[in-house]
Amino acid sequence: MSKANKKASTKTREQPFLSDIKTLRERARKHIEDGAVTAGYRADRDQVVKLLNEALATELVCILRYKRHYFMAAGINADAVAQEFLQHANEEQMHADQIAARIVQLKGEPNFDPEGLATRSHAEYVEGEDLVDMIKEDLVAERIAIDSYGEMIHYIGDDDITTRRMLETILAMEEEHADDLASLLEDLQKG
Ligand SMILES: [Fe+2]
Ligand SMILES: [Fe+2]
Repeated sequence: MSKANKKASTKTREQPFLSDIKTLRERARKHIEDGAVTAGYRADRDQVVKLLNEALATELVCILRYKRHYFMAAGINADAVAQEFLQHANEEQMHADQIAARIVQLKGEPNFDPEGLATRSHAEYVEGEDLVDMIKEDLVAERIAIDSYGEMIHYIGDDDITTRRMLETILAMEEEHADDLASLLEDLQKG
């Protein structure tokens, strides 16, 4: 290693990884009414809350669509498919709850207003004509969710790690949902 390089790498290592304890403690005492949001929070909080509210609307619309599909599923293959719809509806409910809780932690307000819900949502509410149609619509909605969660995760980056980790967990489950639906569709179209 050249002398210059060695100097540069030592310098990188010497960069303080954490603020010193005194600074951390002082910062934590200031603005305690901000709860979980500290001065070290680097993201644009309003923007994150806005994005999370769009994600919340998306989850709520997905719950409604899966519920409709669960109750309307009919035909020879309906039982297994209906159970899948119900399971997805319950998991979307879990996501909606997680997102709403995070919005409150960020000092925002979760928007559950039914007025404008479909417009705020990224995914659409489509009833579907038959079982295959329903599965296709759900698959489209999951693919939209996968893309929008991916974009949110990139936007947030390292600026709000807790929100990012929550979104990553949700994204992984949306991918499972899409995968389940693609398999169901394949089975139905074979049979
Ligand atoms: Fe979801
Ligand atoms: Fe999903």
